[in-house]
Amino acid sequence: MDIFVIEGGRRLEGRVPVVGAKNSVLPILAASILTQERLELENVPDLADVRTMVGILRELGCDVSGEQSGGRLGIQAPAEIDPVAPWELVRKMRASFEVLGPLLARCGRADVSFPGGCVFGVRPVDVHLKGFEALGAEVRHEAGIVSVLAPDGGLRGAEVFLGTPFGSSVGATRNVMMAAVLARGTTVLHGAACEPEVVDLAECLRAMGAQIHGAGSPRIEIEGVASLGAARHRVIPDRIEAGTYLVAGALTGGRVRVEDCRPEDLSSVLDAFWKAGVSIERGADWLEVQPREAGARLRPTDITTQPHPGFPTDLQAQWMALMALADGVSIVTERIFLDRYMHLAELLRLGAHIRRQGSAAVVEGVQRLSGASVMASDLRASAALVLAGLVADGETRVHRVYHIDRGYERIESRLANLGARIRREKAS
Ligand code: EPZ
Repeated sequence: MDIFVIEGGRRLEGRVPVVGAKNSVLPILAASILTQERLELENVPDLADVRTMVGILRELGCDVSGEQSGGRLGIQAPAEIDPVAPWELVRKMRASFEVLGPLLARCGRADVSFPGGCVFGVRPVDVHLKGFEALGAEVRHEAGIVSVLAPDGGLRGAEVFLGTPFGSSVGATRNVMMAAVLARGTTVLHGAACEPEVVDLAECLRAMGAQIHGAGSPRIEIEGVASLGAARHRVIPDRIEAGTYLVAGALTGGRVRVEDCRPEDLSSVLDAFWKAGVSIERGADWLEVQPREAGARLRPTDITTQPHPGFPTDLQAQWMALMALADGVSIVTERIFLDRYMHLAELLRLGAHIRRQGSAAVVEGVQRLSGASVMASDLRASAALVLAGLVADGETRVHRVYHIDRGYERIESRLANLGARIRREKAS
C-alpha cells in the first residue's frame, strides 16, 4: 500500500484545475443503464471509484469505451441485461447501490448487494427502498442481497417523501429519480436533496429524454416516459475538490487559484473563509486564495454541516485541519454523519488540540503542528491529513493513501505543482 511523504512548511503558489465531480459522475454512469442508446460523457475524472463503477457496468454487459484518463467515456448498455450487481464490486463502493434504480426501471427487477457501512458509521438505505416501494416495487432483503421486483405493467408514478432525520438523502433522491423516469405517470419527490450533483444527474437524464422539473429544489416532479435515448453530457466540476485546494492555499498562506470550478456551488464555504479572514478573489469559473502576511493567523470560525446549500459534510475534515491553526477556539459540528470524526485522532498525533463534545468537535487553535506518521481512513479525512502535513513542521507520512485515490485525481502531483514537497512511496 502506498504512502505519502510530506515535508511541511512550504507556501503553495500557483494554479490547479478542478476535475469532474466524483459524486456526479458515479450516478450518471449508473444512469447509462436506462437506455440501449449510447451515453457520451466528458470531464470524467480519473478516479479509483470511477474504475469501480465502470467495472460494475461491464459486469452487467455494458460496452464502456474511451480514455478515462482523457476525461471521456462512452457507455452503451445491452438490449438484455442480467440485473445482478456482484457483491465483490458493490462492497468496494457504496455509490454502486445507485445501479438499483436504473436496473429496476429498465429490467423490472434487480438484485444488488446491500451496501456495507463505512468508517464513519452505518449508512442505511431505508429511504431508497421506501421510494422503490412507493413506485409499486416489491422489496426483499435477505442474505445480504436487496431484491426488487416491479409490478406487472411496470412501475407506477407516486408521491414520496425522501427526508431522513439528518436532512434529505442525496443517494436516495438520485436512485428513486432514476427509477421514476420510466414509470407510468407522474412522480413527485418531496424532501428531495438539492445538491449540485442531483441537478447534474437530472440534466443528464433530461438530455436523454426524461421529463424532470424542480431538480435543485426540495420538490422534484417526474413525468414517466416510455424510453430514453442517446445523449452527450459534460460532468460538473467537483466542488469538494475545489474546496480542498482552497483550504490548502489558506493553510499555507500562499496564493492558489482553483480553476474550472463553479464558485456558486461553494457559497457556504466562501462565507466560512470570509469569516476566518481568508481573502478569496473570484471569477466566473475560478477562485483565488490571496497570500497572508507571515505570522498572521486565521480567525476561529465555527461551522455546522448541513444539506446543500449549507456547509458540505465532505469539507468538514478539511475545515477542521484549517481551524487547528486558527487564533482561538472553533466549534465544528457534524450534522449529516454523526461519527464522521476519524480524522480527529490523527490530527491530535500532529499536535492539534481537539476534543469531541457530543456531535461537535472543539478545536483549540495552536501555533504549530509537528509532522508524524498518520493513518488515512475515509476519503475526506485522508485529504485533511495531507493538508495538515503541508504545514506541520518536519515530515508527515500518510499511510493507506488508497482512500485518497478513490476521490482525488493525482493529488500529490497537483500539490507538488503548487510547490508542496510531497511524494508517493511504496510502504515498506
Ligand atoms: C452522498 O452520500 C455522497 N456520496 C457523500 O460523499 C456525501 O457525504 C453525502 O451524499 C452527503 O452529502 C456520493 O454522492 C457518492 P445521503 P449518500 O444519503 O448519498 C442518512 C464523499 O466523501 N440516510 O445523503 O450515501 C445517512 O445515514 C462521500 O464523497 C438514511 O438515514 O448520503 C446520512 O446520515 C462521503 N437513510 C444522511 O441520510 C437512507 O436511506 C445523508 O446521507 C439514506 C441516507
